Amino acid sequence: MIIVTGATGKLGRRVVERLLERMPARRIGVSVRDPRRAQGLADRGVRVRRGDFDDVDSLVHAFEGADQLLLTSLDRIGEECVAGHRRAVGAAVKAGAGRILYTSQMGASHTSRFAACRDHARTEDLLRDSGLPWTALRNGFYASSALQFLEAARGTGDIALPADGPVAWTGHDDLAEAAAAILAGEHRFDGPTPPLTGPAALDFTAVADLATRAEGRPFTRTVVPDETFREQALGHGVPAATVDLMLSIFAAARDGEFASTDPTLARLTGREPAAFESLLRDAWSR
Ligand SMILES: NC(=O)c1ccc[n+]([C@@H]2O[C@H](COP(=O)([O-])OP(=O)(O)OC[C@H]3O[C@@H](n4cnc5c(N)ncnc54)[C@H](OP(=O)(O)O)[C@@H]3O)[C@@H](O)[C@H]2O)c1
Repeated sequence: MIIVTGATGKLGRRVVERLLERMPARRIGVSVRDPRRAQGLADRGVRVRRGDFDDVDSLVHAFEGADQLLLTSLDRIGEECVAGHRRAVGAAVKAGAGRILYTSQMGASHTSRFAACRDHARTEDLLRDSGLPWTALRNGFYASSALQFLEAARGTGDIALPADGPVAWTGHDDLAEAAAAILAGEHRFDGPTPPLTGPAALDFTAVADLATRAEGRPFTRTVVPDETFREQALGHGVPAATVDLMLSIFAAARDGEFASTDPTLARLTGREPAAFESLLRDAWSR
């Protein structure tokens, strides 16, 4: 059985849909915080169990019978994040899982300037030490994160953000398809995959050009000093820890941590990954 955690989230629910295209529902299970939100999957024959990363017993029960487990990383930062992953890996060992696939990120490193990439590196260490076979999906930076950064510019026409660097923005649909293909045994990796990226690395100057083309109205790019960005964000009520996290993304991008592109995602999915321009067009046409 293949068990997917985070199956009510944006990536996990796409992975489950891609698995359902490949195998009978009875071979799929989900581990979710709130089983009521997965009732639709239960109705289609998917095994739904409650699994909370803060409750090891629930995880051991939810992971029962897992030949493979997709461990979707938590949306937390620092020790709180890694501690949750440690509980999940421990529960997978206890449940006798055959393999863990973990949603890591390109640039995962103990020395990354982006806090989440340091957490991914620590989690990959936990997996290495678990004694279980494991795969770390080094997912490209979500294009949806770029779209969040662009939300204000969508109205103003000016991309006013800190200095950045090229990022290989990548779509959820492509990453979910790749995860499902690996879970279904169509491809196999031990340890970290190559970076699973979109087709091009773009900085926000390049994004301004393609937004201009996509929208048929001008977009400009203004570099905002980090300190000004911090003050503005704090002034809008963004928590200080979130502001620091955002600034750490720009710092890591400036250092080129997300700049490489790689053909592996296309090989896994059998198609060219979605270009950022088409993802932006889709999102902004809604
Ligand atoms: N590669 C990248 O660029 C990038 C960017 C941002 C984030 N990420 C990572 O990728 C992960 C998946 O992305 P996504 O877009 O699917 O995010 P998402 O929609 O926020 O999904 C996160 C999932 O984690 C679940 N979760 C949170 N706390 C939990 C807990 N205590 N126990 C069990 N489940 C818990 C959530 O459950 P509910 O559905 O119940 O809320 C949700 O299903 C994120 O969580 C984050 O770690 C990667």
